[in-house]
Amino acid sequence: MREDAYSDLHWYQWHSRYDDLESDDTDRLEVVQEVLASVLDTAPSGALAAVSVCAGQARDLLPVLIHHPRGHDVSARLVELDPLNASFLHGAIGSTGLTGIDLVVGDGGEINSYHGALPADLVLLAGVFAHIDMLDVHRTIASLPAFCRPGGVVVWSSYGPGMINADAVLAQFESGAFQRHRVIHGTRADFLVAAHRYTGPRGEFPSGQRLFSFK
Ligand SMILES: C[S@@+](CC[C@H](N)C(=O)[O-])C[C@H]1O[C@@H](n2cnc3c(N)ncnc32)[C@H](O)[C@@H]1O
Repeated sequence: MREDAYSDLHWYQWHSRYDDLESDDTDRLEVVQEVLASVLDTAPSGALAAVSVCAGQARDLLPVLIHHPRGHDVSARLVELDPLNASFLHGAIGSTGLTGIDLVVGDGGEINSYHGALPADLVLLAGVFAHIDMLDVHRTIASLPAFCRPGGVVVWSSYGPGMINADAVLAQFESGAFQRHRVIHGTRADFLVAAHRYTGPRGEFPSGQRLFSFK
C-alpha cells in the first residue's frame, strides 16, 4: 500500500481522471469495458462468477454488468483496500439493482481476500500491473490458474510510468495455459488492455501465498 503522498485520499482522487471524458484514462476505461463485454458475449450460459482485484471504484466492471444482457448472471467479489473507495463502492453497488456483488475491504495481494469467490469465470486485474514490480507481476500470473474456472478469462491492463514489459508478460501468459482472447494497445496513450482465456484444468485454492504489494 502506498504511504505519505499516496494516502487513502490519493486513490480516491485517482478515479477523478475518469470524469474527464477526453482523458487517456477514459480511453483506456472504455477499452477495458469493451473487452469485459466481449468476454460476457462469449461466456457459457448459466451463473457466472467474477473477481476484481484492486477494484477501485469499479467504474470498469459495474457499468458493464448493469448494461450487458448477461450482467445479472454474474456474482462478483470486489477486493479494494482504500476505505473511501470502499464507501463509494457500497453506494454504487446499492444503486445498481445487481444482486450477488460483494465487497471485501482488504488486501488484494492476500489470497484469503478471494476465499469463497474462486474459481471465477472472469478475473479482472485492471491497472494492477501498472503499480507492482515485475517479480510480483510474474508471481501473480503464475497463481492465476488457481483463480480461473477452465475456460475463464483474465482481463488485465497496464499503462503509464509503471507500464510493464508487455512482451514478457504476454509470453508468460501464452507459454502457459492461457490463450490470447484480446490484446489492444492504446493509440493515443501508452496502454495495453488484454484478455487471456484459461485452458488448463481446475486448480486448487492456493493457501498462504502473497501475490503482490503495491509499489
Ligand atoms: C490504479 S487503481 C485501479 C482501480 C481500478 N481497477 C481501475 O482500473 O479503475 C488501484 C486501486 O487499487 C487499490 N489498492 C492499492 N493497493 C491495494 C491492495 N493491496 N489491495 C487492494 N486494493 C489496493 C487502490 O486503492 C486503488 O483503488
